[in-house]
Amino acid sequence: AQTGPLSGRHVLITAGPTWEPIDPVRYIANRSSGKQGFAIAAAAAEAGARVTLVAGPVHLPTPPGVDRVDVESALQMAEAVRGALPADIAVMVAAVADWRVAQAADQKLKKRGSALPALQLIENPDILASVATGPSRPPLVIGFAAETQDVIRYATEKRKRKGADWIIANDVSGDVMGGDVNAVHIVRADDVISLPEMPKEDVARALVERFADALPR
Ligand code: C5P
Repeated sequence: AQTGPLSGRHVLITAGPTWEPIDPVRYIANRSSGKQGFAIAAAAAEAGARVTLVAGPVHLPTPPGVDRVDVESALQMAEAVRGALPADIAVMVAAVADWRVAQAADQKLKKRGSALPALQLIENPDILASVATGPSRPPLVIGFAAETQDVIRYATEKRKRKGADWIIANDVSGDVMGGDVNAVHIVRADDVISLPEMPKEDVARALVERFADALPR
């Protein structure tokens, strides 16, 4: 094992989008490159942690020293996260689809004249909230919030609603999605720390440093 501020710790990270099948060839997804979550996994491994990265479908290489579990749907992601607990830190960065198709078709849906398929959606489990309120709750549970307005206010509400310790909020009204830089606000119970815009790798290292400081010894 590596030495570093997180050595001896297990860090569980979700990243990327989820794909919710409609039929064997179609899906509903969120827009997410997975870059920020993968960068956090890399930084946590560099800091000496054992890292489990539960990844939705993305085109990114596995960072050195990271155990990766590939999933597609939110239900699969929830299952993989349950299986990876316990952890010292959970960082839920994935852009999980809020809904899935109630009954995905076994065969490809065909165009039938002018009749349109009606998709019935049902809600996906909230993985962050389940981890934060579950029996094996890690000592530090962190969520993300991508917002296009009132970033800090929404993140503050989200922190309470989901039972997370911190919410890392970013304004995605600009070029953050799929881009290489990010500016985040760390929303905690008693304060908000705003970091300047930097490459996603530097954001990851800055966050990981703070995770290590916040853990009970
Ligand atoms: O509610 P919203 O999707 O904006 O919350 C974002 C945060 O919640 C992120 O940390 C995301 O990974 C997590 N989340 C989750 N499971 C869901 C929806 C969101 O873990 N079904």
